[in-house]
Amino acid sequence: MGLGAPLTTAPTPGRRIPNEPSPPLAPTATDSRHSEAYYEVKGTIFGALIEAIDLAQLAKLDAESAREEIRDIVNEIVAIKNVVMSISEQEELLDDICNDVLGYGPLEPLLARDDIADIMVNGSGTTYIEVMGKIQKTGIRFRDNQQLLNICQRIVSQIGRRVDESSPICDARLPDGSRVNVIVPPLSIDGPALTIRKFKKDKLTLEQLVRYGTITHEGAEILKVIGRSRVNTIVSGGTGSGKTTLLNCLTQFIDDDERIITCEDAAELQLQQPHVVRLETRPPNLEGEGQVTMRDLVRNCLRMRPERIIVGEVRGPEAFDLLQAMNTGHDGSMGTLHANNPREGLSRLESMITMGGFSLPSRTIREMVCGSVDVVVQVARLRDGSRKITHITEVMGMEGDVVITQDLFVYDLMGEDAKGNLIGRHRSTGIGRPRFWDRARYYGEEKRLAAALDAAEAVSSELGKS
Ligand SMILES: Nc1ncnc2c1ncn2[C@@H]1O[C@H](COP(=O)(O)OP(=O)(O)OP(=O)(O)O)[C@@H](O)[C@H]1O
Ligand SMILES: [Mg+2]
Repeated sequence: MGLGAPLTTAPTPGRRIPNEPSPPLAPTATDSRHSEAYYEVKGTIFGALIEAIDLAQLAKLDAESAREEIRDIVNEIVAIKNVVMSISEQEELLDDICNDVLGYGPLEPLLARDDIADIMVNGSGTTYIEVMGKIQKTGIRFRDNQQLLNICQRIVSQIGRRVDESSPICDARLPDGSRVNVIVPPLSIDGPALTIRKFKKDKLTLEQLVRYGTITHEGAEILKVIGRSRVNTIVSGGTGSGKTTLLNCLTQFIDDDERIITCEDAAELQLQQPHVVRLETRPPNLEGEGQVTMRDLVRNCLRMRPERIIVGEVRGPEAFDLLQAMNTGHDGSMGTLHANNPREGLSRLESMITMGGFSLPSRTIREMVCGSVDVVVQVARLRDGSRKITHITEVMGMEGDVVITQDLFVYDLMGEDAKGNLIGRHRSTGIGRPRFWDRARYYGEEKRLAAALDAAEAVSSELGKS
């Protein structure tokens, strides 16, 4: 990271001036000990510092040099503003400011936890987290919206951006790979809103998904065949439903000798294969220039002799290029998209192409979708917080104007237990020969596929009897 300043300040006793009112906010992990007057002084100095310093340049320095730089400027500001402070007070203020500028203040304890999937800060007073699929409120508070804004500023400065009234929206990334979105007033009405999707170093594997009940063993076997046999696959699901995680799982079964190119908005996938090129889009800079879109990447990819193309999230006209790639010898390409069921996923692809301004008749677009996508895997986050693969669905072709699909594997919701956990089961639909059977045979996977389908059906009929 290069800016590895201490993450939290060790509390220094005896700072509070007697008879001063306590800080109005509940204590947080980093700030629980100072008086209003202190915050006022700090706020003034901090404001002046942010004005004076080039955050993007600062982000390039190592922690020691950055600290020195801040120290010089703070000393200067203290002198100019005629702030009366003892040397030790000044040192402490410097520590505090460095933590805010170089660290993430009250967010640090949340960032240090591995069990958190998302951190959602709605203004200085309210922070929610998602743990085990459930959203909970935390006691973490920021001193005020200014402190929160400063931390947001610090996060986005690492990618050379600023957030302020004139440029109030920004996507960024933490040094550990976590995805960040910041939106500040006047667009967010009650203070800056900061959303962090924490990066998980150890991505879940298909075995773990089986253990969590996201899919059964048999279903996972079918997914392995799909991943290995170069079946063109779309992972569909809602926000935070586990699309990227599942896509990552599917890539684990790609052979080592294939050349894979990944295109993402923020690199999240972790492919284990040796021959991978990772590409990432780029937002426009402050002057609105230099943007590289997903479509640019996918198109460029086609000139890089890929064998498979993996698109993190398809949300626009790049759908056209991905489908073309699937259609023109880059079998086994994959992508995720946002939809609530497999059929909706297919029609989303259609509408992304229609809205992308391609002047093609709608039937042609539909035929293209049908001819390219082999399988849609649907994931969902259920209301009890659990994540399930709810469909493995094949695209069969068209009858007239209608796309025909066939479910191989589905999840049925059956009820709810006393604790509010949903009860359901995965079942096979009894299809013995999916459309990708020949493909599986070509890759020597037909035994695994047959065994998985048989076992799935046996389990389903057992369940049916009980
Ligand atoms: N099957 C699962 N069981 C438990 N946790 C899961 C499962 N799948 C994903 N998660 C966790 O849920 C969080 C969100 O997962 P992921 O990033 O894959 O979702 P997504 O659908 O791609 O989200 P987005 O729409 O924001 O791109 C991650 O922290 C991930 O580890
Ligand atoms: Mg995702």
